[in-house]
Amino acid sequence: MAGVPLIEKNIPSDGVMCQYGTGSHLVAWEGYTLPAPIRPRIKRFSMPDASVSPTTPPFHVLITGGSSGIGASLALRYARPGTHLTLWGRNTERLENIAADVVRKGATADTLSLDLSQTEDALAALRKTDDANHIDILILGAGLGDIRPEGALTETAEQVRDISLVNFTTPVTLATEMASRMAVRKSGRIALIGSVAAFHDLPVATAYSGSKAGLARFSTALHAAMTPHHVSVTLISPGYVDTPMSQRLEGARPFLVSSKRAARMITRAIGQGRAHLLFPWPFAVARFLEMVVPRAIVHRLLRMAEVKQRPTQ
Ligand SMILES: NC(=O)c1ccc[n+]([C@@H]2O[C@H](COP(=O)([O-])OP(=O)(O)OC[C@H]3O[C@@H](n4cnc5c(N)ncnc54)[C@H](OP(=O)(O)O)[C@@H]3O)[C@@H](O)[C@H]2O)c1
Repeated sequence: MAGVPLIEKNIPSDGVMCQYGTGSHLVAWEGYTLPAPIRPRIKRFSMPDASVSPTTPPFHVLITGGSSGIGASLALRYARPGTHLTLWGRNTERLENIAADVVRKGATADTLSLDLSQTEDALAALRKTDDANHIDILILGAGLGDIRPEGALTETAEQVRDISLVNFTTPVTLATEMASRMAVRKSGRIALIGSVAAFHDLPVATAYSGSKAGLARFSTALHAAMTPHHVSVTLISPGYVDTPMSQRLEGARPFLVSSKRAARMITRAIGQGRAHLLFPWPFAVARFLEMVVPRAIVHRLLRMAEVKQRPTQ
């Protein structure tokens, strides 16, 4: 495309963008007011050109689950001048608070409250957002972590349906739409937040471990498909991270990681375009053990584990 400026956006090795351009526009959900710059073609992530025009649109990061925990910490980590954060969640008040913190750090932000169990609505919202302002990094972090109710033999059918939609169906739908768009642009990064639970047959959380297992295989398969098209897809498999989700669990949370530290590791992995980040390392050992120890023994041990969860507040 002759005459279209080629802008190279920058992600240093820690995965956080440096400032480029002014990125001064503020976006409301309905009213995108970009000063109609010609959309740049984005080739590779590398140092910005000193001659980047002040009308360059900001680097755009969309985070689902941006209202809490890991998603909120990621939003704060990416927040800096020249970056626009689009934060999705359900709780409007918490979304607005995080957005205000992001703006205080010099970025721009907008929020959308939506229920990700409504896959069609989420897909329409993603298309609308990307049409208005190309997404550079999509982080699919929202998740439900409910386990079997105390004393029940299984999770409820409704629980399993909702967990499947929020943890698997909607994120893989959004990731696929974004991957096809980014592949055409030959640039972009997608991260899916799974869990180490993907690698274990958890009797009290069949839907959680099952949905995260599906997400894990989807993510690494999409990574394989997208690599030739300059789109990176990163699977994040955390152990215990100190967020409202894990705080609901009664009992020990071994090798607990703060959400700030988790965000640091995650942004670095996304910046490096890694296929998979699993942390902290003892869970990599547990994954290996589960593969080599006979399944009947593993299942017996897992059935013995007492796991209780407080209701959501
Ligand atoms: N914390 C851990 O120990 C841990 C370990 C492994 C994996 N993970 C994964 O990390 C991700 C983030 O979890 P977290 O620990 O940060 O938990 P969190 O603090 O409870 O945050 C969960 C996020 O998901 C959003 N969400 C949940 N259901 C939704 C729905 N139906 N529609 C839209 N948004 C929805 C929540 O939005 P609202 O609050 O606004 O409803 C919130 O922003 C999840 O995918 C989780 O499975 C967490």
